[in-house]
Amino acid sequence: MDGFAFIDGHLHAERVRMSTIAERAGTPTFVYSAATLRDHVRKLRAAFAPLDPLPCFSVKSCPNLSVLRVVAVEGCGMDVVSRGELRRALAAGVEPSRIAYAGVGKTRESLEEAITIGVGCLNVESAEELELVARVAAELRRPISLALRVNPDVDAGTHRHTTTGTKATKFGVGVERAEELFERLRDHSFARLEGLHLHIGSPVLDTSRYAAAIDVALALIERLRRRGHAIRVLDLGGGFGADYETGQSPSPQAYADAIVPRVLPLRDQGVRFLLEPGRFIAANAGVLLLRVVRVKREATKTFVICDAGMNALLRPSHYDAFHFIWPAEPRDGLVPTRRAIETGLAGLAPCDVVGPLCETGDYLALDRSLPPLREGDLLATFTAGAYGMSMASRYNAQPLPAEVLVDGDRAALARRRESLDELLAHETDPEALA
Ligand SMILES: Cc1ncc(COP(=O)(O)O)c(C=O)c1O
Repeated sequence: MDGFAFIDGHLHAERVRMSTIAERAGTPTFVYSAATLRDHVRKLRAAFAPLDPLPCFSVKSCPNLSVLRVVAVEGCGMDVVSRGELRRALAAGVEPSRIAYAGVGKTRESLEEAITIGVGCLNVESAEELELVARVAAELRRPISLALRVNPDVDAGTHRHTTTGTKATKFGVGVERAEELFERLRDHSFARLEGLHLHIGSPVLDTSRYAAAIDVALALIERLRRRGHAIRVLDLGGGFGADYETGQSPSPQAYADAIVPRVLPLRDQGVRFLLEPGRFIAANAGVLLLRVVRVKREATKTFVICDAGMNALLRPSHYDAFHFIWPAEPRDGLVPTRRAIETGLAGLAPCDVVGPLCETGDYLALDRSLPPLREGDLLATFTAGAYGMSMASRYNAQPLPAEVLVDGDRAALARRRESLDELLAHETDPEALA
């Protein structure tokens, strides 16, 4: 589901007209639908119900506090990978015990903070980190539950930038080293290594890749058991696809069908399950609203130049990602029947939808068939809720976009637009370092 639909020819977020949001909040603006966020959490929880997992929403996908609060109220914990994300999760009112903390480069300070506040699960990514965690926990005299992120050497079949479960990547510890690391911590008084963590990439559209990674983990769990190490937590990671182009993504049930039967026997053995979905929950819950600044017609091409491009939504240029784009107030009844490259409509013309930045990679769509556009038109870029605002930049000194959360007939500003003065706020006249 997504909460964005054309009603009487006007694009709405739930019951609020997008053009009204643009008038009040300006553009570029990310608009999120609370009903869509809730619906996605519910669908995932229903599909995975036999495992009764804790879904830890992946904060990196959409870190806005208002969004975090919606998914937290819906029963999510949080998956964080930095002190900044940890602060966000806590600020959204999430109990530390419902937070999983991962990341390959945790500093001593971040480990101290995570252990002191008592995160539910600290996911360790290397032998070196494990040693430091054990030392810090002993110094602080605080117990901490650890899961070892294992690298199953399974190719997720996704973009190379988001493949995280093969030996060539920096993530996790080779399975062959895991037993030795569990042995090292066998009698530690504070650092309890009692879990495994898997996350092979994002998005993973072939569900058999999960099955392959889980089989590696199950064999390891069996070997660990034989040595007397009980596994109490299995964090299955995230990576569930969102419907970027209609029909491309497996359903939550399809993911569950590949995963649940494999790990269900562990539940009777007292294992707790975590999931770390980000994209599946947030991607279709967000639309990026842009204004057309200029339509530039050259002999060979038409460029629709918008008030933001890769600075607001990096995915097309960074991951070659497809995002459906359409005017929020289309003329002549040109309402699309499908959100795909082929919309089933006549009267369209090809154009490149680009941003204002001085970079050829600054585009949202290339050679896309769209209705004729004019300066001032409002464009909606769909499925922009995940890895949109969280990857936005100030490149070319562009202020960060605003964010709006819609819930039913109510639209609320969830982050005000950055001002030009704020762009300069952190810079001082050069002064000697103290
Ligand atoms: C460790 C970990 N868990 C979960 C996620 C979330 O992935 P997705 O948003 O595709 O569900 C990521 C994404 O990079 C990740 O690195």
